[in-house]
Amino acid sequence: MFPFTESPIACPVARRMNMFAALPLLLLAPAALLAQQPAAPDDAHVAARVDSLLGQMTIEEKIGQITQIGPSPIGPDNLKPEDLIREGRAGSVLWTIDSAQIKKMQEIAVNESRLKIPLLFGFDVIHGYKNVFPVPIGMASSWDPAMVEHAQAIAAEEASVSGVNWSFGPMVDIARDPRWGRIVEGAGEDPYLGAAMARAQVLGFQGPQLGTPHHVVASVKHFAGYGAAEGGRDYDASYIPEELFRNVYLRPFQAAIDAGVGTVMSAYMDLNDVPASGNVWLLRDVLRHDMGFRGFVISDAWAVASLKVHGFARDPEDAAWRGLTAGVNMDMGSETYLHNVAKLVESGRLPMTVLDEMVREVLAVKVRMGLFEHPYGDLASKDKVLNDPEHRTATRVAAQRSMVLLRNEGGALPLKKAVRSVAVIGPIADSADITGSWTAETNSAVSVLEGLRKKLPNARIEFVRGGDMQRLYPLPWDADEGKKATPLMSAEEMNREVAKAVQAAKRAEIVVLVLGERANMSGEAASRVSLALPGNQQRLLEAVVATGKPVVLVLLNGRPLDISWAAEHVPAILEAWYPGSEGGTAIADVLFGEVNPGGKLPVTWPRVTGQVPIYYNHNLTHAPEDEPGFTSRYADFVTAPLYPFGFGLSYTTFAFSNLQLDQKSISPTGTLHISVDVENRGGVAGDEVVQLYIHQRAGSASRPVRELKGFQRVALAPGEKKTVRFSLGNDELKFWSPQTRAWVVETEEFDAWVGGDSKATLHSEFKVTAATE
Ligand code: BGC
Repeated sequence: MFPFTESPIACPVARRMNMFAALPLLLLAPAALLAQQPAAPDDAHVAARVDSLLGQMTIEEKIGQITQIGPSPIGPDNLKPEDLIREGRAGSVLWTIDSAQIKKMQEIAVNESRLKIPLLFGFDVIHGYKNVFPVPIGMASSWDPAMVEHAQAIAAEEASVSGVNWSFGPMVDIARDPRWGRIVEGAGEDPYLGAAMARAQVLGFQGPQLGTPHHVVASVKHFAGYGAAEGGRDYDASYIPEELFRNVYLRPFQAAIDAGVGTVMSAYMDLNDVPASGNVWLLRDVLRHDMGFRGFVISDAWAVASLKVHGFARDPEDAAWRGLTAGVNMDMGSETYLHNVAKLVESGRLPMTVLDEMVREVLAVKVRMGLFEHPYGDLASKDKVLNDPEHRTATRVAAQRSMVLLRNEGGALPLKKAVRSVAVIGPIADSADITGSWTAETNSAVSVLEGLRKKLPNARIEFVRGGDMQRLYPLPWDADEGKKATPLMSAEEMNREVAKAVQAAKRAEIVVLVLGERANMSGEAASRVSLALPGNQQRLLEAVVATGKPVVLVLLNGRPLDISWAAEHVPAILEAWYPGSEGGTAIADVLFGEVNPGGKLPVTWPRVTGQVPIYYNHNLTHAPEDEPGFTSRYADFVTAPLYPFGFGLSYTTFAFSNLQLDQKSISPTGTLHISVDVENRGGVAGDEVVQLYIHQRAGSASRPVRELKGFQRVALAPGEKKTVRFSLGNDELKFWSPQTRAWVVETEEFDAWVGGDSKATLHSEFKVTAATE
């Protein structure tokens, strides 16, 4: 949402679009970190410092600390941000990555404002800053939390030296409906994988504690239930029963809180009829009381003002009252607190104690971050950090590890480097704009065409676009960049392009067909009614395959698409998501076998749009679909997805054996240890993601058919066998029961499966028994 009069981002190359991973060996050694780590201020110190400041503040200064403004003049009075900062009437600035502007504003806050309270500079550092990592759904496909943590540590370092000290990430909304455009920004459909990715990202952004040098404070978002928007339409209402909310949607948020996240961003939408940004139950009872969050809450952009638009608040004053009493500490951009809180206090409607509580939590984060001692970015090292070749390498590794091989009939991949001619076909095959939703300093990447040309310097590579695609409803910033003005190819031109593509395919030994979505087709405000390949891509696909030439399909997209036809007719399909700065290079690395793909789907892949919402961890009905008679299935189509959650192939094959449980029965507080052997049975090295699923057979509530409760990505040399170990304890076995309205571990029988996806067949069972049994 961009109600600023001018582009919210000062830097022309920066856009509100496009997210994250890397080498375990590049991981910052905890010991090294701890060495540079200042001691965390203790609670008493923080409270004393905050109280002392609060005691000196005027009401305007208090309101300032809970007001976040943009970098451009605001409101009908054209108030200059610099003036507001000088007067202590702004506590934070968002949407600038202009280091000089950030420095200047911070100097004003620290030197010229009465209380010298430094500003927080917030920005959507979602999957990289200058060096762009794959979008979050891609990073989640790596099933490699260590890599994801490293990626976010790099993003945090680049942002922090530039002066940005607050990331509006990670986005951890569970998404079970790929029509929802923001599925690209999260870790998919599963609470366990989502929690692992949430934890990794918070640690990457913040380091082991707030105030770790060269890190930023994170903001886990969007609290909560945003991914369940009705019909997959962005911003639409979510209706989520409490058991689903706590068992699924809140789990990644809890992981982020347990990892010490400093801030939480409240969501836009109505949650069970009460907007999330004015929802007392959600923000006070659940977030603070039940989940133990101790930082501060920032609204989503304009969400406080929007409480009126929702038909919830009567007017802006009421909206401010509702936001504050619900516990939204800071108002992002809407000026609703700025203009209304004084009136509310003066009239006695808002007790000063509530305002003080809101301010106290903001100041406490600033103190804990060490912002008073280190208000500035490390501009002297900015160039070096942003141009660090290791950062660029990390984006390439992340992209390689994020790719998912969906099909590989007859060993179509890897391709041989001896190939002499390749037709590269597809509307975005030559596009550098493949970094996806949300980028900061740059959104330009190595295209697939460029990656292939570099990989095959001596081959004849012919590129044909083959057609075109476009959003029907453009985004405002596309218009700024003149994209609206670029007309879509006419039907006739597209026909000519398809014919050209067919000719190019016929001339080549192999075809690399690059299909998917333009970067602006997924992300915020990018929901789609259909998962079909946009534009004329399906026709292009069928025409190129009809040439009989060997075709490799590379997908660049932010959500699962309807590729059912391709899944039957194209021998090799590689899901690359939006792969980040080194995308084209990493794709070529994988296509030519220099890297063996090992990613797995973090979402269930539907066959057609009508199957959504679709997810693996559903409950059974009284009439399971595989039984005869009236069953829970479609009368006109299969219910099974195209690819199951957790699925992904490799250039080698793996075998699982020797599933061992150290006990057959444990007490509700006990821990069960599980081990399994995984062996690389093929001729090349590769990674397998070993996945553990469980099912509770009976209890106070129906439980999902399967639930992921452990995973590990393991690298195996040809012929190598490793033993992988998991443990199941309270965290894995508990669920929130709608009958007892509490977290329970029930004394019941359980199944356990281990394998390479959610259809794993290696099975065992165990029981949870009362300690006295
Ligand atoms: C998005 C948030 C984002 C904020 C600031 C909103 O429209 O929903 O995810 O952090 O803008 O850019």
